[in-house]
Amino acid sequence: MNSYVHYRDWFNVRNTLPKEVRIGFVPTMGALHQGHISVLEKARRENDFLVLSIFVNPTQFNDPNDYQDYPRTLELDRRIAAECGVDALLIPGKDDMYPSGNDMPILTQHPLSQIMEGKVRPGHFSGVLTVVMKWLHWVNPARVYFGEKDFQQYYLICELVKQYFLDLEVIGCETLREASGLPLSSRNQRFNKEGLELAHRFAKLLRSGSYDDLASIQRRLEAAGLIVEYIEKHFGRLFVAVECHGIRLIDNFRL
Ligand code: PAF
Repeated sequence: MNSYVHYRDWFNVRNTLPKEVRIGFVPTMGALHQGHISVLEKARRENDFLVLSIFVNPTQFNDPNDYQDYPRTLELDRRIAAECGVDALLIPGKDDMYPSGNDMPILTQHPLSQIMEGKVRPGHFSGVLTVVMKWLHWVNPARVYFGEKDFQQYYLICELVKQYFLDLEVIGCETLREASGLPLSSRNQRFNKEGLELAHRFAKLLRSGSYDDLASIQRRLEAAGLIVEYIEKHFGRLFVAVECHGIRLIDNFRL
């Protein structure tokens, strides 16, 4: 099919699909890059019908400037969607997703929502879980795909699906990286040359030395000019967030 479906027509399209058709769903905030493409390709292979959504969700940004500055590359995104064989591309506006404001949010108190990203970005995970819940009810997929770069998000969405008895599979997709180890991210598009060099340096520094002494890794990162928001170990993984030339970078990987 490979076409743009206006979000208002989605229910009609979905209702014409035979019951046995498995819908794979990739929710995104756009500014698509190679990481998204690999997720879309996986979802394309594993499902009969592929839905991609693009929506920069205001309720998950605690900083209005960050929301404002989030990269938006809609024309390129549409081309990528077509090349990846997306069957339905849903691009709603703010009022479509939140017709009466955000007056029915999911206010998570899950312990994992209170640390790291949840601590430095108050309300972030409530915004994410609220919009994801809306999307899952709207699209009604058999499988939904998320990148493991946002591991906390992925984990909490698995909890959401389990605790609200949603009948679908959540698939975590491995992070794609540059040769330096820097994870691919939409935010990387905002770096100037110097910022990008420092971002690669960050990735390399994270991969040198032992992980027994987190304070010494933090000192190394700070000496390079990065502002460390947190560096913590959980689930046998290292989680880190830094500010690099005014842009947030997060990463996590198995130790
Ligand atoms: O990971 C993202 O791009 C967003 O947090 C998501 C899951 C699309 C919700 O807005």
